[in-house]
Amino acid sequence: MFSRHVSGSLRRCSGRFPSSRAYASVTSTNPNRVDIVEVGPRDGLQNEKTVIPPEVKVDLINRLGRAGMDIVEAGSFVSPKWVPQMAGTADVISQMERLHGHRYPVLVPNTKGLELLLDLLAKHPASPSTPAPTDEIAMFSAATDAFTKANTNCTIAESLARLEPVARKALDNGLRVRGYVSVVITCPYTGKVDSAKVKEVARALLDMGCYEVSLGDTVGTGNPTSVRAMLETVMGGSAGLPAAKLAGHFHDTFGTAVANVMTALDMGIRTIDAAVGGLGGCPYSPGATGNVATEDVMYALQGSKYSYPGDLNAMVDIGAWISDVLGRQNASRAGKAILAKKTRERKFKELEPKRERDGGNAETIAAKL
Ligand code: HMG
Ligand code: MG
Repeated sequence: MFSRHVSGSLRRCSGRFPSSRAYASVTSTNPNRVDIVEVGPRDGLQNEKTVIPPEVKVDLINRLGRAGMDIVEAGSFVSPKWVPQMAGTADVISQMERLHGHRYPVLVPNTKGLELLLDLLAKHPASPSTPAPTDEIAMFSAATDAFTKANTNCTIAESLARLEPVARKALDNGLRVRGYVSVVITCPYTGKVDSAKVKEVARALLDMGCYEVSLGDTVGTGNPTSVRAMLETVMGGSAGLPAAKLAGHFHDTFGTAVANVMTALDMGIRTIDAAVGGLGGCPYSPGATGNVATEDVMYALQGSKYSYPGDLNAMVDIGAWISDVLGRQNASRAGKAILAKKTRERKFKELEPKRERDGGNAETIAAKL
């Protein structure tokens, strides 16, 4: 991963994944710094049924940036026939606020998507005052043929063959490349997934020059035991993949995503994908719910040895705002609890003049709120 602590200090990869094109992770000075990739504007919105105007997506990204989220997945250059909600990504990333030192990766499934992105970048070059709309793509494959067929209309092998030239061209054009492996625990079409296959696909993506591969529990069936077992296979053995090159991406269908995040951190992973308000779902993973809520991850890390980007209170407000805009329940447990506490405190304050007038007992009134 790229560390915000050493911004600008890109270096070429050496060692186990020796692609001369591969950007390396630069180790943070703080080994317990957790990077959060905020995937709300992409994974969070892609499955929403009503058309979300670009202005709302831009507003969401801007709010997230101002709340200190320095890696925000901003959209996808995928086929609009497959995922109509992401059709306006070119408009979104050219209109959004681009903060210096922040990263705005976009999903790219094939050469066509990359070419559309490169055309856009040519029209919006970086200037001293404004960074380019993005300098990073994310490519995705999966651990089962059934899922890659449903999601990208090809087998795993075909998807890797399709992605190899995408990675090469992106790196040649100075873009960072991130990878995803979906269905690392369970496939919605074939059930339990072989962790050895997860490792094989993740390695293939790293060998193409991905600086990091995010392991996606797309269906959200994982629990700490199955996530640990999967990571032991992926990271273990003679050809184990290093934790520094992996990220965790947990959907929260069974309510175990925060526990899974803590398991991944315990095993040395330091990059976690999360979505404000617990937004999200994959259109090709029926029944799966949203990503782990960013607010819940932040809350879980409070007081721990881990540090993380962003302002929890600001994220709670963004989670409430976007849930309201989308007309859906706020799926962040921490977000809802913090909002409820804020409401109680506000009401308590509003009643202060009355308390003073009546000589009321503060504790009794607080207990009634
Ligand atoms: P295909 O139908 O085999 O592709 O789809 P095609 O090459 O035959 O093209 C079909 C049409 O789409 C053509 O248009 C192309 O031009 C157009 P037509 O000639 O019919 O008018 N097209 C495109 N248009 C814009 N941008 C493009 C593009 N490519 C083709 N890039 C394809 C293959 C990969 C394109 C398709 O399956 C696709 O776009 N899939 C993306 C699905 C997707 O976005 N899924 C969600 C993201 S992954 C995810 O959520 C999981 C993750 O969160 C991790 C986890 O949770 O596990 C990352
Ligand atoms: Mg996902």
